[in-house]
Amino acid sequence: MTELSRIPASEITPESVYLRRRELIGAGLATPLLALAGCSEAKEPVTVNRPKDSPDGFRTADIQTRFEDASSYNNFYEFGTGKADPAKNAHRLRTSPWVVSIEGEAEITGAYHLDKLLKGMAVQDRIYRLRCVEGWSMVIPWQGVPLAEVLKRFKPTSKAKYVAFYSKADREQMPGMAYESIPWPYREGLRIDEAMHPLTLLATGMYGKPMPNQNGAPLRLVVPWKYGFKSIKSIVRIVFTEKMPQTSWNMLQPEEYGFYSNVNPAVDHPRWSQASERRIAGTESKLFAQRIATLPFNGYASQVASLYKGMDLRKWF
Ligand code: MTE
Repeated sequence: MTELSRIPASEITPESVYLRRRELIGAGLATPLLALAGCSEAKEPVTVNRPKDSPDGFRTADIQTRFEDASSYNNFYEFGTGKADPAKNAHRLRTSPWVVSIEGEAEITGAYHLDKLLKGMAVQDRIYRLRCVEGWSMVIPWQGVPLAEVLKRFKPTSKAKYVAFYSKADREQMPGMAYESIPWPYREGLRIDEAMHPLTLLATGMYGKPMPNQNGAPLRLVVPWKYGFKSIKSIVRIVFTEKMPQTSWNMLQPEEYGFYSNVNPAVDHPRWSQASERRIAGTESKLFAQRIATLPFNGYASQVASLYKGMDLRKWF
């Protein structure tokens, strides 16, 4: 054995290329190469291993939702409470110029144009499952920057224990705000270690395109191990706080929607079970989409369960 052949492939190939190659092999897409090498002779049926999620959780191998479904079946109450309302009404939202105000317990604060906020940051690709608290889920390829990279620029102080997020609230552009369906502006929050976790994404696009307005243009959160309502859309304000911030759904129904809202099949919503979900993916009709078991932390337990060590997740739902 030469020195070189003892080095694992992961060390001589850039990690992203190596992981992608494993996915391709798993998906059977490498078959033509094997055929060229004379390996296609076997008469036995070949078992193709299902491609696995990347170990960091950044890319799930689950079948993806179609763009048409992900951009037409939405929750964005500022544009109406019906699933089709956001796609119908969100064209009214003016997403440029877009200013985000950074406030609270940080050395640097101020109002920043979106370009300046994200300046110099490389946009990353993530493929995440998103599980809505209502019992449906999607698999969406997002583009964005890790929230941690943005937050660190503002040097949060030791008092910054939480981060609060606020959506745009403009009654002229957002017809759904005429109804007091939830407390406006839509607001959400994360504990600082959740906000700094590498899976937490500030997304600017999906499916390789700029974010559609109905999905939260130009800037939204995606927190894949929590119920979808934590993934707040069209963010205009980020505040570092010492106290746990208020969140819209918790203000409305505290016994139904907790601050943490980690996906948990063992803790039912007071009005329905959370044990399974309707997976809207591939070409299946939305109505007859497959029902699958919901996983703890939406399948991201190996990445995030340690954040909640010692916590009673029934109490801190
Ligand atoms: N953000 C705002 N500002 N307003 C909303 O009504 N709905 C939430 C979340 N973010 C919502 C929001 C809910 S309930 C879900 S399930 C997800 O957005 C849905 O994201 P999607 O439409 O991109 O699938």
